[in-house]
Order: sequence, then C-alpha cells, then structure tokens
Amino acid sequence: MQTLEGKTAIVTGAGRGIGRATAELLSAQGARVVVADLDADVTAEAVEALPGEALAAPGDLTAPETPAAVVEAALEAFGRLDVVVNNAGYAWDGPLHRITDEQFQAMLDIHTIAPFRLLRAAAPHLREPAKQELAEGREVFRKVVNVTSTAGTMGNALQAAYSAGKAGVIGLTKSLAKEWGRYRINVNAVAPGFTETRLTAASSEENVFVRGEREIQLGMPEEARSAGAELAAIGRPGQPREVAEGIAFLCSPASNYVTGQVLSVSGGQMVGMSS
Ligand SMILES: NC(=O)c1ccc[n+]([C@@H]2O[C@H](COP(=O)([O-])OP(=O)(O)OC[C@H]3O[C@@H](n4cnc5c(N)ncnc54)[C@H](O)[C@@H]3O)[C@@H](O)[C@H]2O)c1
Repeated sequence: MQTLEGKTAIVTGAGRGIGRATAELLSAQGARVVVADLDADVTAEAVEALPGEALAAPGDLTAPETPAAVVEAALEAFGRLDVVVNNAGYAWDGPLHRITDEQFQAMLDIHTIAPFRLLRAAAPHLREPAKQELAEGREVFRKVVNVTSTAGTMGNALQAAYSAGKAGVIGLTKSLAKEWGRYRINVNAVAPGFTETRLTAASSEENVFVRGEREIQLGMPEEARSAGAELAAIGRPGQPREVAEGIAFLCSPASNYVTGQVLSVSGGQMVGMSS
C-alpha cells in the first residue's frame, strides 16, 4: 500500500539534490507533490520526472510573499495540505571576521525565516482540519520536516552564518512540536552530514548560486572534500537518496509517535561539539 495516498506535500528546494530525491520518494508513496524552487525551468523539469501528480511552484522563498503563495498554490491545485518539508538552502561560507551583514542575514533568511513563514502560512490548513477530526474522534497525522545540518547541531569552522541559520530552524522545530503535538502534527528535523550534491562538489566557475546580481561560490576545495567524507563512521559521503529516506520516514505513518527530534543522517558523523 502507498502510505501517502491522497496526501499533499510541499517540498522546498525540490529542484535538485536532497529535495528532489525527497520529492521522488514522497511521490512514489502516492503523495501529490508541490515542487518549490527558485527557477521555472528547474521546477518544471522536476515535476515532469515525478511518477505521480505534482505542481511546480517557482519563486524565491526568501521574498516575504513567496511562502504564502506556495501554500495557496498547493491548496488551489490539491485542496488540502498534509506534509511540509523545508529543505531549500545553500551555504555562503567564510571566516567570521569577513562575514558581511548581507551574508549573515541571507543565511538566516533562507534557513530560519523562510521555513517560519511557510509554516505560518500553512498553519490554518494543518490545524483546522485536525481540530475537526479530533472532535469526531479521529486521529489523522500531518508532518513537518525541517532540513538542518550537522553544522547546526555541532558547528563548523567557516560556517558561522550557515550554522546559525541551521541552529535557528532547530529551535523552530522543537517549539512547534510542543505547540502542534495536540493536533497530531509531527514536527521534526533532519540533519544531513556530508552529502554529495552541488553544495559539496568541487568548487568551480560553474558551481555557483545566483542570488540577484550576485554569484555565490558553492562547493568545496578538494582537501576539504576528502576530509569531510572521512568524518562519517560509515566511511564515505552520503547520497541525496539516503538523506531523503530519513526525511521520508519522518513524513510517513511509521513516525507518528516521533516529534521534536533531530535525526542525524550523516553516516554517524563523529566529530564536533554536540548539545
Ligand atoms: N549537501 C550537504 O552536504 C548538506 C549537508 C547538510 C545540510 N544540507 C542542507 O540540505 C538542503 C538541501 O541541499 P542540497 O545539498 O540538496 O543542495 P542543492 O543545491 O542540490 O539543492 C538545494 C535547492 O534549494 C534551492 N534554493 C536555495 N535557495 C532558495 C530560495 N531562496 N528559494 C527557493 N529555492 C531555493 C536551490 O535552488 C536548490 O535547487 C539545504 O538546506 C542544505 O543546507 C546539505
């Protein structure tokens, strides 16, 4: 049986990498998936490749009006909302003494504030049906999964801004789990470790994130790539699909009694300062 039959899921950053692999798994489980990502061509291509019904919702999620527009598009197309995966993100790294205000703010905007705005817009569509169901004596679980990072749980040199944004979303996750548990809305986070996407690919002229007029260098120098891969007990980097499996677990009925947790999908990352 497909466990997400009849459900609607929003996945942000679903045009590539971990988000795209998540959209594929949720779609294969029967969910109707709203693919939210920056560009129209990337979202359309991702929608086309999914096995089930899906909708492209292109737009910059850090623009204040975009998260609510994505929720509205989901409701207009599919009439309900059951799963929200806040995954969109990128790394804008540097040593603390060189981090600009713009850079630090950008990391908070995409990793903490965009998820907050999306969840605020989704709130009535998750809470109100739940109240009705509970009044009728029915338990129907809905799911929120926020993608943080081991940088958010353990810190990472040269990633003070990124780590702050990723730690912020953990506070959001745990507080909302306490607020929404009574409505049977599970709110959890997944912390990927070193995962092979363009964020951890070799730095090159082509591997950039375009933000307005600015091109932000993505990827890592070769030495950092091999050092990063060695951090995992499993002894190799993760694949987007392997992280998506963790997210999909937290979107599935198998996790109905799990909330307020941060699931590390890092191959057992061993170093760092834990809480
Ligand atoms: N790759 C890793 O090693 C790793 C490790 C820890 C956490 N993460 C996190 O996992 C998530 C997914 O990253 P990934 O590695 O799959 O990278 P990716 O670049 O392959 O995918 C991220 C997607 O997010 C989208 N996105 C970024 N900013 C956006 C915005 N303002 N509006 C709409 N879409 C936006 C991008 O366009 C991209 O398609 C991110 O939050 C990232 O920080 C990744």
